[in-house]
This record gives sequence, structure tokens and C-alpha cells, in this order.
Amino acid sequence: MKDFEGKVAFITGGASGAGFGQAKVFSEAGCKVVIADIRQDHLDDAMSFFKDKNVHIHPIKLDITDRSAYAAAADEVEKVFGEPPQLLFNTAGVNTFGPAEASTYSDFDWVIGVCLGGVINGMVTFVPRMIKAGKGGHIATVSSWGGFMGGATTAPYSAAKAAVNNLMESYNLSLRPYNIGVTVLCPMNIRSNIGEAVYTRPEHLADTGYNVSEKTISHLRSIHAQGMDPIELAGWLKRGIEDDQLYVIPYADSKQMLEDNFKRVIDLATPGGVTRQEAKSKNKARPYQANDIGYGLAKTELNWVDESHRAKPTEELK
Ligand SMILES: NC(=O)c1ccc[n+]([C@@H]2O[C@H](COP(=O)([O-])OP(=O)(O)OC[C@H]3O[C@@H](n4cnc5c(N)ncnc54)[C@H](O)[C@@H]3O)[C@@H](O)[C@H]2O)c1
Repeated sequence: MKDFEGKVAFITGGASGAGFGQAKVFSEAGCKVVIADIRQDHLDDAMSFFKDKNVHIHPIKLDITDRSAYAAAADEVEKVFGEPPQLLFNTAGVNTFGPAEASTYSDFDWVIGVCLGGVINGMVTFVPRMIKAGKGGHIATVSSWGGFMGGATTAPYSAAKAAVNNLMESYNLSLRPYNIGVTVLCPMNIRSNIGEAVYTRPEHLADTGYNVSEKTISHLRSIHAQGMDPIELAGWLKRGIEDDQLYVIPYADSKQMLEDNFKRVIDLATPGGVTRQEAKSKNKARPYQANDIGYGLAKTELNWVDESHRAKPTEELK
């Protein structure tokens, strides 16, 4: 797709971070944009940003894991704009960190429910409507570079993102006859509010095996403050959609990154590969841990987790 003028774009997570960047870039390109988000405060802030801009933005409060609410949101789009979107951005996502073996069912259900289930709900809700409208279109899903590999402290997230990559490959093969393109965006660090994703974690899925505190949240905020500007990221995505690319790895050395990663996979598929890859890792601690603030650790009650690098004073982990 090269011409965005007048097209309806539905962006989940559109009120913050990567999604907000997409809302800015694609409304600027002429789209009528729906920003759908679970957080009313994010929607309010985003709408006040767009108030004086000469662009068409429609907010919808939506939890993408709620299928009937998703169908109602799709009905609302058709009522407001007279047609379903031609552009769907599955952007909303959440994250939380801790050792894979400490993960609870709720850790999996929440993260996979939003990051994979939310994408599935977007596809099942909108794909038939887009096909019936007969105008073609494009679907972009925000995955992660983490979808290409496992992570010692990111199991639910990495699994969800790997599944999303695969799912989008399937939809890409399936949707081409309908003139609907598919793109998966796989960034590393984005300047966003994902560090505070746990604020949207539902009460019935609150049981976690990880150490999560205001200290770990503030540590994550400082990491994401260093991330890629969402406008720049949306620019990479827009070029990827224009060029009909299935994968967009938004870095100049993306080819080398992928080659290195697939060399790693090939090595792991040969005898001794696990030991060789382990030796390559300079830090023997689990990657992405910051022990002084307890980030990436199991909650202290899980004393069976072999956490030789765990911060010593349990006080710090509270
Ligand atoms: N921040 C990063 O470093 C990074 C890296 C790679 C991939 N990603 C992915 O980028 C996407 C966007 O995240 P971001 O970093 O911009 O974070 P963000 O928190 O700034 O934005 C995500 C938005 O999604 C909303 N959201 C969360 N759960 C929702 C739900 N159930 N229903 C509807 N909306 C919901 C949040 O309220 C928030 O406004 C996610 O899919 C994330 O996994 C982020």
C-alpha cells in the first residue's frame, strides 16, 4: 500500500508509545485513525495532543482480550466511518520479567493473552470485515526482536512474539489473494510506557512468580527512556508497508542481525552447540537482570529458584 489518504486505520495501543507514534505518522499521511486502548488516561492525553492538529482521530476504550468488546469496537468503526478499516495495526502489548521457571499460569495467561490473544482477536474481528469490504488493505503487527529467540527472564513474552511472527507469516500467505498485505515489525527498545504495563494487569491474573515493585518499574522506565523514538519507528513501519515487506527489523544492520541469529540457531542444532553458545555469553547471570533493585528475579517466596545472583538483602526485593 502506497496511498494512505482517506483510509481508516485502527491502532490498538494507539494512545501510547509505538501506537501513538503510528497514530501521529499515519494521520499525518492522511488516514482517519482510530486509537483503541485499555487506558482512559492514555486516550485522554493522546486526544488532547491531537486537539489542535488538523487530523481525524477517534478514540475507543478497548481491552483487546475482550472479544465481544472488540466486535463492538469494530461495529463502532463502521458506524462512525461507514466502512471497516483498510489498515489494522495490532500494536498493544504488555511485558513483565522474571525467571522462566518462576512463571505462573497467570504470568502466561496475561502476557500471552494480550500479546498473542489480542492479535488473534484483532485478526478474527477484522479480517472477514476487510475481505467483505473488498477494498484490500494492510495489517501491521508489532512483534519484537525478542520473537526470534528465547529469553531467560522473558518466557511468556518471547513465546507470544515468536507465535505472532509465525501467525503473520500464515496470514500473509492467506491474504494475498484479497490484496491485503501483512507486515510484522520487530523492534528492540522503544521509548514508551511499557515499563508500567503491570498497571493494566487484571486482578484475576494478579498471581505472579516474579519480583515486581515500583523499583523494578522505575528501572524499566529508565531502560525504555533510551529506546527508539516512536515516530522514527512508525517511519520504518510505513516504509515497510509501502514496500510490502513481511518483516521490518528497524535497524540499518538488520541483515547482519538476522544472519547472526540464524547462525546461532544452526549452532544450537549441532552437538556441543548449547555449550558453545553458553561460553559466548560473557555474563553468567541471567540476561536482563539488575540485582541491586531485584529486576528480573523471582519473588522472594519462591526460595526453590536457584538464583545464585539474587540480590542478597530480601528487604530490597519487597
Ligand atoms: N518498548 C519496547 O522496548 C518494545 C520492544 C519491542 C516490542 N515492543 C512492542 O511494542 C508494542 C507497543 O508497546 P510500547 O512499548 O509502545 O508500550 P506502551 O505501554 O507505551 O503502549 C502500549 C499501549 O497498549 C495499551 N494496552 C495494554 N494492554 C492492552 C489491552 N489489553 N487492550 C488494549 N490496549 C492495551 C497500553 O495501555 C498502552 O497505551 C507492544 O506490542 C510491545 O510488545 C515494545
